[in-house]
Amino acid sequence: MQYRELGRTGWRVSAVSFGAWAIGSAWGDVEDSESLSALHKAIELGVNFFDTADVYGDGRSERLLAQLKREHKEEIIIATKAGRRLDPHLIEGYTAQNLTAFIERSLKNLETETLDLLQLHCPPREAYYMPEVFGALDDLVGQGKIRYYGVSVEKVEDALKAIEFESVQTVQIIFNIFRQRPAELFFGEAKRRRVGILARLPLSSGMLSGKLNSQSHFAPDDHRAFNRHGESFDRGETFSGVDYETGLKAVEELRSLLPAGATMAQFALRWILMFDAVTCAIPGAKRPSQAEENARAADLPPLSDETMQRVREIYEERIRPLVHHYW
Ligand SMILES: NC(=O)c1ccc[n+]([C@@H]2O[C@H](COP(=O)([O-])OP(=O)(O)OC[C@H]3O[C@@H](n4cnc5c(N)ncnc54)[C@H](OP(=O)(O)O)[C@@H]3O)[C@@H](O)[C@H]2O)c1
Repeated sequence: MQYRELGRTGWRVSAVSFGAWAIGSAWGDVEDSESLSALHKAIELGVNFFDTADVYGDGRSERLLAQLKREHKEEIIIATKAGRRLDPHLIEGYTAQNLTAFIERSLKNLETETLDLLQLHCPPREAYYMPEVFGALDDLVGQGKIRYYGVSVEKVEDALKAIEFESVQTVQIIFNIFRQRPAELFFGEAKRRRVGILARLPLSSGMLSGKLNSQSHFAPDDHRAFNRHGESFDRGETFSGVDYETGLKAVEELRSLLPAGATMAQFALRWILMFDAVTCAIPGAKRPSQAEENARAADLPPLSDETMQRVREIYEERIRPLVHHYW
């Protein structure tokens, strides 16, 4: 495993970490025992950073992480999120009172007195123009409820605005072979300000594992069945906003670039780690075998310049028109 500095927190976190959405909800059936085995396997392989949210299975994902902490001696760092309990999800709800209530709930679920890292969970754009929202988070730091905070964003411009707030330690953003725009402007600025970057959807919802095909079936409660067009939340959160058949074709082209001994999922993760502004990729994993395959990607040698160039060409040809200017 490689470790990288997380913002100015002083923490060094695993370059391949763990995204805990799928073990909470919205990805079809998952057994808690299987999820826990995946989490344990990740720790065994050096993963020390886990991303979750209060709304993943209405606290189920957070509670699994609390159980993991109870069962393991190793120190792990948990990032959670707040904001999406608001229904409707409107900026007016981003009050100190509501944020405090959400955080109190996460503290209970995670069985802790202080959250390691709290992220605003893709708030409406107006939040980034409201210093009072960040002031409320500063107060929660002062009260010892949260150690550090960051944001999870949909768009590059939201990320650029968010990091103007000096206490923002991290930005979580979609970054993968099918979502390359963050590297253009945002990464340089984040590096300059020493803001950590968590790359989410590193496998583009599993598409970049190379296992999907036109016949793949998704359960009705899997967002890959119900959110392809943004029916429930931002459509970019499902397959990075790339339509299914286009994604499959691009994956076929990428296959020829796999280094010896690497799987497609590992290649996709190693590609992300080629960007030194990225602190970590946070792939979701539902089974120990996935957690293992993903964690081991951090040990692969760097990709060649030619491979990086070819990936860029495939992106430019097939993907860019579908995503580049949307997020
Ligand atoms: N708004 C936000 O803040 C937000 C939104 C989305 C995600 N996130 C965070 O980012 C994390 C990662 O994103 P994501 O989970 O949406 O997408 P992802 O990491 O790109 O895809 C994860 C899915 O791919 C499949 N998979 C994982 N490893 C695999 C492997 N080695 N081989 C084959 N298939 C594999 C699994 O599903 P199957 O086995 O069912 O295919 C897994 O659930 C989330 O868990 C969450 O923590 C945050």
